[in-house]
Amino acid sequence: MMPKLVIVLTIGAAILATSANAERRTIDLHDYDDDLMRDLDKTIKYFEPDITAKNVQGALDDAAVLQDGFKYTEDYFAKKGGADDAVLISKEGLNYIAAAIKSVSANDFDSAAEAARGAAKTCRACHDIYKPLKK
Ligand code: HEC
Repeated sequence: MMPKLVIVLTIGAAILATSANAERRTIDLHDYDDDLMRDLDKTIKYFEPDITAKNVQGALDDAAVLQDGFKYTEDYFAKKGGADDAVLISKEGLNYIAAAIKSVSANDFDSAAEAARGAAKTCRACHDIYKPLKK
């Protein structure tokens, strides 16, 4: 029984890996704001810790930076065209940030932390498709 399950799981993982690669798209990114992305990277690292530390002002400041970031990616990919998934992912990110702001403001730090994790996932969701792999 066990070896068979292992084989099934291995094949499943291989199929997932292949389809993830097939979905990666190459687009022209010469005008993309990498500095903003690096700011987002710093901010997303503080976001959940600020929330769990109940640092309301810090969390709201982080949220404002992240909101600007997701608005930037939404506009960028909307203008680019043919990248509806990236626009949707950006909107999802904005929804998570809005939810986090609402929860932080209501002192519901557990829900806010969950929303922060959701936001971090949307970063990765877009990168899986559009961020070129490191050589
Ligand atoms: C809708 C798409 C999208 C979203 C959302 C997004 N990114 Fe990116 N990100 C990109 C793309 C595309 C690149 C590659 C840019 C390039 O190669 O010029 C990138 C690059 C980066 C880089 C590397 C920058 C460098 O040094 O060249 C970092 C760090 C980064 N993103 C962090 C984040 C974080 C953190 C979030 C979420 C808060 C986020 N990104 C959300 C598309 C996205």
